[in-house]
Amino acid sequence: MAYSEEIIEQVRSSNDIVDVVSTYVQLKRRGSNFVGLCPFHNEKTGSFSVNRNMQIFKCFGCGVGGNVFTFIEKIENVSFYESLEMLAERAGITLPKQEYDKRYDIKRNIKESIARINKDSATYYYYMLRSPEGKHAYEYLTKRGLSEQTINNFGLGFAGKYSDGLYKYLKNKGYSDQELKNSGMFTFSERGVQDKFWDRVIFPIMDYRGRVVAFGGRIMGQAVNAPKYLNSPETDLFIKSENIYGIQLARKTKEKFFLLAEGYMDVISLHQAGFNNAVASLGTSLTDRQAKKIKGYTDNVVITYDNDGAGKAAALRAIPILKNVGLAVKVLNMKPYKDPDEFILNLGADEYRKRIDEAVNGFDFEAGMLEERHNLDDPDSKTKFDHELAKTIANIDDPFARKNHIKAAAKKYDIDENDLRREVNEIGLAMKLRENNEVEKENQKKTRERKPEVAKKQANHTLLTLLAESKEAYLAVKEILTAEDFSEQLEKKVFDCIIKDYERTGQAVGARIIEKFEDAGEREKVADILMTSGDFDDISEDERRKAFADYVYSLKKEALEREIEEAMAHNEKDRLRNLLEEENSLETIRKKLSSVKLA
Ligand code: UTP
Ligand code: MN
Repeated sequence: MAYSEEIIEQVRSSNDIVDVVSTYVQLKRRGSNFVGLCPFHNEKTGSFSVNRNMQIFKCFGCGVGGNVFTFIEKIENVSFYESLEMLAERAGITLPKQEYDKRYDIKRNIKESIARINKDSATYYYYMLRSPEGKHAYEYLTKRGLSEQTINNFGLGFAGKYSDGLYKYLKNKGYSDQELKNSGMFTFSERGVQDKFWDRVIFPIMDYRGRVVAFGGRIMGQAVNAPKYLNSPETDLFIKSENIYGIQLARKTKEKFFLLAEGYMDVISLHQAGFNNAVASLGTSLTDRQAKKIKGYTDNVVITYDNDGAGKAAALRAIPILKNVGLAVKVLNMKPYKDPDEFILNLGADEYRKRIDEAVNGFDFEAGMLEERHNLDDPDSKTKFDHELAKTIANIDDPFARKNHIKAAAKKYDIDENDLRREVNEIGLAMKLRENNEVEKENQKKTRERKPEVAKKQANHTLLTLLAESKEAYLAVKEILTAEDFSEQLEKKVFDCIIKDYERTGQAVGARIIEKFEDAGEREKVADILMTSGDFDDISEDERRKAFADYVYSLKKEALEREIEEAMAHNEKDRLRNLLEEENSLETIRKKLSSVKLA
C-alpha cells in the first residue's frame, strides 16, 4: 500500500518550494528563478536555482535537482517517506495511517532498521547503566557532576564488560546478522561477533528529531592503551560531517545564539548549567554542512572551544566557515580552564554567562591570536604581524566594519592608518580578482561542457521547459508535436506527462510531473530537463518566439527525416508522399509559431 497520489500531491502543493528552500538557503530573485549557493556542493557562483512556477529546483553546478520532496530527502538525509511526513507536518496535514510503498526504496528500510537497532541499543545501555554491573559507570558520571536528570536527558548509558552483550540482546530481539552488520555496532570476524563498545560510558548521538543515529563511548578514567572516546562508524544513518551533537535540544532554545563546543561532556555540562543552546561538532573539525545546518536554526554562534593550542587552531578554522554561511561569530575565553565543562564545574553558570557577554567577535579573536604569535617589539616580526593583520581585516565583509577596524587597529598597534587602509584595499582587490577568476573558471567550465552534440538536447529540453511553463506554447503545438518526435525515451515520457497534466488539470506543474517518475536518477534528470532556460532568460519576447518556433521546427524536421529515411528503405511510396508534404508545410508552421504569444 502506498499513500495515494492525491495526498502526495496535496502535501507537495501545500509546501511552496521557494519557502521551504529559503529556510536552508539564502535565495535571491534572478529572472524567473530564485538562485543561491548550492547547499549540496561548495561553490561561489550561485548555480542553485529554484523555480516557483514549476515548483522545482536544480543545481547547474553539481546536477542535483527535483521537487520539494527531493530537496528535503537530500538536505535532511531522509527517505521519500520521511520527507513526506516532514512536509505534511509543516503544512499541518495529517497523513492517513497507512503502510508505506515498497518503491520508496530499500535504502529507507536499511535506515529504519538501523534506527530501530540504535533505539534498542540505547535502551540496553540505559538499563546496563542502572544495573549492578554498571554501578561504577553511574558513579563515574555522577562524580563528574552530572545529575540523574541530565543523565536521562542525554540518554547516557553503559556498555558492559562482556564483549557480546549487546549482540546477544539484539539477536534475542530477532535482528538478522545482516541488519546488525549495517548498524556498524559490531565487529564480525572468524572468531565470532564482538560489540564495538564495551566497558565504556555511552553517549547516544541524536539527529534533530531526537532519533539515535550513532554512539560515542568513553573510557572511564585515563585512556592509556585505547582511545578515550570511540565513536560509531558512518552508516546509512550517520554521516559524521553533517551531524551536530545536542541539536535535538538546542533547536528548541529561545536564545538568539548557539554555543559551539568541542566535546560531548561540554555540551552536557552546558545544558545542565542552563545553557540549552549548546552544540558540538564532535572531534572532527567543523564542516560547511554543519555550519549550514546551524544557520538553519540561528544567526549567531559563540565558539567555546578548548582553551589550548588545538582548540584555538580549531576556532581559527571554524570562524571563516561559520562566517561564510552568514553566521555572526564570537569567541568565548575560558581562561584559566580548559573547556566549558571544567569552567562550569569550577566557576559555575553565572561566571560562564559573564564570559558569554565578554566574548569577542571573530575578528578580534583572530587579531589576538596573531598578536600572540608575533613579537611586536621586534621590527621584523612586527612587520609580518602588520601584513597578517591587514589580511585579516580585508576578510571582513561589511565595509563599515572594515573601516572601523582599520581605524581601531591602526591606533592599537601603532600602524599608519593610511598605510593600513591601502594594504587592506589592495588585498581586498586581489581577493576579489581571485574570486572573480574562480567564478570565471566555473563559468568557462560550464560553457565548455556545453559541447555541440548537446546543443540539440539543450534545444529539446528548453522546448519542454517552455511547454510546461507556457500554456500558450502548449496550445500552439498540441496538434503539431507528438511524443514520438522526441528521440530520447525520457524526453518522450516528459512530453507525455506535460500534455496529460494540461489535459487533466488545464495546467502543467513541474513538481507534479516529477512525481510520475519513480527512479531517483530519473527524477533528477526530469528536474534538469524542466529547468532548462537555455539562453532564454535574457532575450526579448520577439527573439523568444522565434527561438520557440525554431526549436519546434528542428525537432519536427528531424523526426520527419528519420521517418522519411525509413519509408524510403521500405519503399512505402504513399507514406513517403505524405511525409514529404508534411515536411513542406513545416515552414508555414514555423511562421505561425513565431507569432505565438508566450506567457
Ligand atoms: P576532548 O579530548 O576535549 O574531550 O575531545 P572532552 O570532550 O573534554 O571529554 P572529557 O571531558 O575528557 O570526557 C573533544 C571531543 O573530541 C572527540 C570527542 O567527540 C570529544 O568529545 N574525541 C576525543 C574522539 O572522538 N576521540 C578521542 O579519543 C578523543
Ligand atoms: Mn573535558
